[in-house]
Amino acid sequence: MDDLTLARVLHILALVHWIGGVFFVTAVVLPSVRRLAQAEKRAATFEEIEGRFAPQAKISVTLAGLSGFYMTWKLDAWYRFAEADYWWMQAMVAVWAIFTVVLFIAEPLFLHDWFRTRAARDPEGTFAFVQRAHAVLLTASLVTIAGAMAGAHGWFVF
Ligand code: HEM
Repeated sequence: MDDLTLARVLHILALVHWIGGVFFVTAVVLPSVRRLAQAEKRAATFEEIEGRFAPQAKISVTLAGLSGFYMTWKLDAWYRFAEADYWWMQAMVAVWAIFTVVLFIAEPLFLHDWFRTRAARDPEGTFAFVQRAHAVLLTASLVTIAGAMAGAHGWFVF
């Protein structure tokens, strides 16, 4: 196996863990917590579960980024960022950048406190917002995966 193939394998394994986890939180954890837990316990229950995923996601997001930039360098594919046919290259970096900022900067700095304070005041509204935000990010990630799979294997839309 050459190093480009190894990077591709690591890229996909990291994505399976990361986006699979986001899918699980969006489709299973959030709806369950909203339905089952008492209103005042929802935030703590959700943080207990998601708090275990976040440190793991930091590793898979980092691995996806490193393997992605390695492949870009190895393929000398920087020119793609300026071409419409390769919209999925920009989409990959955009999705990666959003999750990186949320996990490494926003969550430790203010998102955590904002969530607790808002959930104590308005649990219903806060969880509806958090669910919507997860659904938007998940949709963007899935569209990106579909576009990158198709694009990397020669299917061009434009
Ligand atoms: C810093 C961020 C990233 C960079 C620089 C990057 C770069 C790359 C590169 C260069 C390839 C190989 C393309 C080719 O063979 O022509 C690739 C493949 C791929 N990437 Fe990314 N990527 C990043 C993040 C992501 C993210 C966040 C996703 C999904 C949400 C993603 C999904 C994929 C998929 C599905 C493939 C196709 C693998 C295949 O079938 O060969 N990437 N990426």
